[in-house]
Order: sequence, then C-alpha cells, then structure tokens
Amino acid sequence: MKLPERVAICEVGTRDGFQIEPEFIPTELKIEVVDRLSATGMPRIEVTSFVSAKAVPMLRDAEAVMAGIKRRPGTRYSALVPNDKGAVRAVDAGVDDIHTVVSASESHNLANVNMTIAESLVRLEATAQVARRAGKPVYAGISCSFGCPFEGEVPVARLESVVRRLVDLGAQGIGLADTTGMANPAQVARVLEHLMPRFPGVEWTLHTHDTRAMAIPNILAAMEMGVGHFDASIGGLGGCPFAPGASGNVCTEDLVHCLGAMGVETGIDLDALIETSRRVQEIVGRVLPGQIVKAGKWTRRYALPDGVRERVPAPS
Ligand code: COA
Ligand code: ZN
Repeated sequence: MKLPERVAICEVGTRDGFQIEPEFIPTELKIEVVDRLSATGMPRIEVTSFVSAKAVPMLRDAEAVMAGIKRRPGTRYSALVPNDKGAVRAVDAGVDDIHTVVSASESHNLANVNMTIAESLVRLEATAQVARRAGKPVYAGISCSFGCPFEGEVPVARLESVVRRLVDLGAQGIGLADTTGMANPAQVARVLEHLMPRFPGVEWTLHTHDTRAMAIPNILAAMEMGVGHFDASIGGLGGCPFAPGASGNVCTEDLVHCLGAMGVETGIDLDALIETSRRVQEIVGRVLPGQIVKAGKWTRRYALPDGVRERVPAPS
C-alpha cells in the first residue's frame, strides 16, 4: 500500500457527537473531555458549534465550553459555524480555526440549515469575511459529499461546483463529509481523483461516518490518494440530527490504532485516548461503538490454557 508517514486527525466528538446526545452533557464535563483529548496530543479539536440553540440545544453552551478549556500549545481549537453570526460568536470565543458547513445536496442543506445551497454560500461569503478580518483560517466542510439520505446520488459535478465556490471565498481546506455513511472506497478514490487535480493547494479532509462499516476502508482509500487529514470521534460518538439514519463517526481510537499498527504516525497517545474513551462512555452512560476499548490493542496477548503451553515446540 502507498501510505504516508504521518496523518493529522481532528477530533469531532464533542461537536458531532455531543450535538446528538439525548441528554444535555453538562458544560464542565464537555470541558473535561476536550482537555483530556488535547492531553493525548490531538492536533485539532472541533470543540463545539456556534449554531442556533433552537436547532441544536445540546450545544447551547458553546461560549462557556470555549472559555473553560485549557489551551494546550500544539492543539488547534475550532468550531463549526453555518453563517456569519456563528463566525462572530466563534471569533469572540477565541477559536483558532473556523469550520463552516454546507451540503452538496439541496434537500439536506434545507433540512440542516434551512437554506438553499446558494443562500448558504452567500452566508458563507460573509462568514469568510468575518474570519479574514479576525485572521482565522477557514476550513469548509461539505455534508453529503458522497450521497444524500433524501436525494440519493450526488453528482460529482455538483460537488465540484460547491468546492469551487468555497475555494473562491478563501477556504484553505475542504472537508468532504460522508454524513450518513453512504460512500464506498472505490467511490472515494474516484471523487478524489476528480477533485484533487482541479484544486491544487487545497488541504483535503475526509469526514466519515461508520454507519455502514465503511469508514476505515474509505479513509484508507483517501490516504492512498494522498489525503492526510481525517475527522474522527472518540468512542465513535456522532450523527447529524438533520439526516435520518446518521450514526457515529469513525471512532478515533480505532483509527489511531489502525494507523499505528501500519506504522503511520499521528502524534497521539493511544493509551490516553482509550482512557478518554472509557471516561466518555461513563459520561454518556452507555457502551459506544469503538472496538479497541473492548478488544484491547493488537499487541494484547492471552495466557495459553494448561496442557497446551507445555506442548508448544521451542522456536527453531
Ligand atoms: N448562532 C446563534 N443563533 C443564531 C445563529 C447562530 N449562528 N444564526 C441564527 N441565529 C438565530 C437568529 O438570531 C434568530 O434568533 P431569534 O429567533 O432570537 O431572532 C434565529 O436563530 C433564527 O435565525 P434565522 O437566520 O432565521 O435562522 P433559521 O431559523 O433559518 O436557522 C440556522 C438557520 C443555520 C441558524 C439553523 O438552522 C442552525 O443553527 N442550524 C445548525 C444545524 C447544525 O448544527 N447541524 C448539525 C451539524 S452539520
Ligand atoms: Zn458528521
């Protein structure tokens, strides 16, 4: 396989995950999770979102969370915003980076942010201006890049035109989001093969959901295409409240474990990440989809049963 030496992970569990939790996670626990994540060496954390509290009540404490976290040098803290109002709030709250959201599907964009794609792009133009004045980089995420739960197939020409608008308004990174886990690895490779040469200099991120168990295969396909940035969510939390059937993101510790086993560096302390995942399970009060917390790392060994141990021939 053609693998990079290193990839960068952005943890999105406290945003993509906590936004859809049935119970409001108290602010001090959100802060604790962000601080534990940064202490693992996580290079980027999407802490929260600055959206309408009516739309996403679970993240209504975005300002308080940003104000309460310990800022670890080496971690960049961002938040998701759908419009310039969100960008002003995010800048005031001290984010390092602005993450924007628009969908490649008209139906999902209306369900998610109550705007057509064209209306969203107008608001994102204003968002980019707010970010530029504040000196904050913009990374633009595109929901339903590989398929929409309402419309089905999303033509690559439509995706390309949304990317074009986002790059023109100054986004330095583009995040292709598989919001409801519809993408497959061959499709990911095909879409990237189409887009990447058309937008030189853009930093590409793949944002996956493991709804159909294709998240890690999709990440491997993107890595082979030269993508070096991936969103992931602790324990596999996550899901979009405005996309039926959406479930958790690729699980951060499972991904870091997989990358580590292949010799791809992430700079993240896997043991600390596994501990954090256990703590998040305690906080949300249920078992999360992540596998490594249950199975242990691949280096885990078991004692041989009596009667077998004695019969194992010495290595020749
Ligand atoms: N932060 C806080 N409040 C906001 C806001 C923001 N970024 N943007 C708008 N609002 C407020 C407005 O001030 C207005 O408040 P009021 O009722 O007190 O006057 C209210 O929300 C409605 O504003 P409007 O511009 O008409 O928006 P809307 O009702 O059409 O909703 C969004 C549009 C984008 C604000 C809303 O759909 C939203 O926040 N969606 C977020 C979706 C999301 O996070 N999805 C998951 C992640 S992909
Ligand atoms: Zn998502």
